[in-house]
Amino acid sequence: MSHIAVFDARSYDRSYLQQAAHPGQALQFHEFRLDAETAPIARGAAAVCVFVNDRVDRACLEILRRQEVRHVALRCAGFNNVDLAAAKELGITVTRVPAYSPHAVAEHTVALLLTLNRKIHRAHNRVRELNFSLAGLVGFDLHGKTAGIIGTGKIGRITAEILQGFGVSVLAYDLYPDQAWARARGIRYASLEEVLRASDILSLHTPLTPETHHLVNERTLGLMKPTVTILNTSRGKLIDTGALIQALKNHRVGGVALDVYEEEAGVFYEDLSGQVLQDDELSRLLTFPNVLITSHQAFLTHEALTQIAQVTGENLERLSAGQPFLEGTQLA
Ligand code: NAI
Repeated sequence: MSHIAVFDARSYDRSYLQQAAHPGQALQFHEFRLDAETAPIARGAAAVCVFVNDRVDRACLEILRRQEVRHVALRCAGFNNVDLAAAKELGITVTRVPAYSPHAVAEHTVALLLTLNRKIHRAHNRVRELNFSLAGLVGFDLHGKTAGIIGTGKIGRITAEILQGFGVSVLAYDLYPDQAWARARGIRYASLEEVLRASDILSLHTPLTPETHHLVNERTLGLMKPTVTILNTSRGKLIDTGALIQALKNHRVGGVALDVYEEEAGVFYEDLSGQVLQDDELSRLLTFPNVLITSHQAFLTHEALTQIAQVTGENLERLSAGQPFLEGTQLA
């Protein structure tokens, strides 16, 4: 029996992962996240299974290595939270789930846009209180507007295509443009600056890298239209939260919808109702009527959870059976 320590495991993780587990895989679930402090709990495990907010840095990996843990299986696509160089050095294999229903994330992105723009969340709350007033609920037609898609990988491309269905014209920016796709869809690639200047809606779909860290900052916010709606379902650190708050206070941004937040670790996925929120920037963001936040849930569909569990189970099985990994899954 191969024992796998699963960190940051919620009720939905448990049921999907358990169902997809191969015979011989014994999953041990922990609600807390993996980091250097919690790593000793993985003693005796062949592998650890982690998600977006576990901190798998060098210190954590060194403890895992001393405990003979040979595999970090990410059950997500992004891997900015793992020190891959350290893993390679220590001989620890790192795998991920490169794609799990990019539709889930793209659809959530558009759901956030529609909700924020047409103020559905506020209208819903009002109607439940028998307040049928429309004051303050004015939105704008998506039709005829320009959306800038930053990062035209799997999720960015689907988001662009959904928006085209609303009659939105799409401008795109990517380090590696997919010209064939753009031609086929009537989409134009432009420089980052042109996209920032021209967009009514700006949607971020790049991974978090040193180049994309704080891509939205004081300078780039200054280039955008003061009415711009910014969508981030990618990674929190793509946005400099302090600069965003200043821009919101100065009416330099039309609206912001976030599924991810710079300092989300330890806050998102937790029930903190009844506690004092210690994060002042998140508290401030929550006070703006034109900011909508969800708790990193863009992936949360039946289809995505099924794929995540199947590929993770397969990755764990292939390492223990000495078989090659599926394409795109092995990072170290
Ligand atoms: P992908 O790898 O298919 O696409 C990423 C695109 O970004 C690529 O086209 C790449 O060329 C481009 N890119 C990379 N660096 C860039 C840069 N410096 N400037 C411009 N473009 C750059 O990734 P996918 O599947 O579309 O996912 C995008 C991101 O979405 C992931 O990295 C992850 O952070 C996030 N994500 C969020 C989820 C959520 O639940 N909120 C779930 C899944 C992914």
